[in-house]
Amino acid sequence: MALLRFFRNGVILGSAEVEGGVPILEIAEQAGIEIPSGCTSGNCGTCLVKLIKGKVPIPEPPPPGLDDYLIEEGHVLACCCIADSACDIETNPPL
Ligand code: FES
Repeated sequence: MALLRFFRNGVILGSAEVEGGVPILEIAEQAGIEIPSGCTSGNCGTCLVKLIKGKVPIPEPPPPGLDDYLIEEGHVLACCCIADSACDIETNPPL
């Protein structure tokens, strides 16, 4: 069982199980955690979150809402990135 744990400012908000093919944004909703979102298609960057622990595959090519710097810093877009293993995610917007 792989768990996504969601944090805000380092404090845990809740967790939910990883589901194949389900973006982080929806898994957070299932856990009762709201991550701000806009386009839900990888363009606006509103749903940017940061991985504290674990890895999330970045779609290829990366969605327009992500750039190399953000990826290097461990950021992912919750609306279009899908976790396939246990991760800890900081939901506080980094900007
Ligand atoms: S909601 Fe726009 S990039 Fe995720």
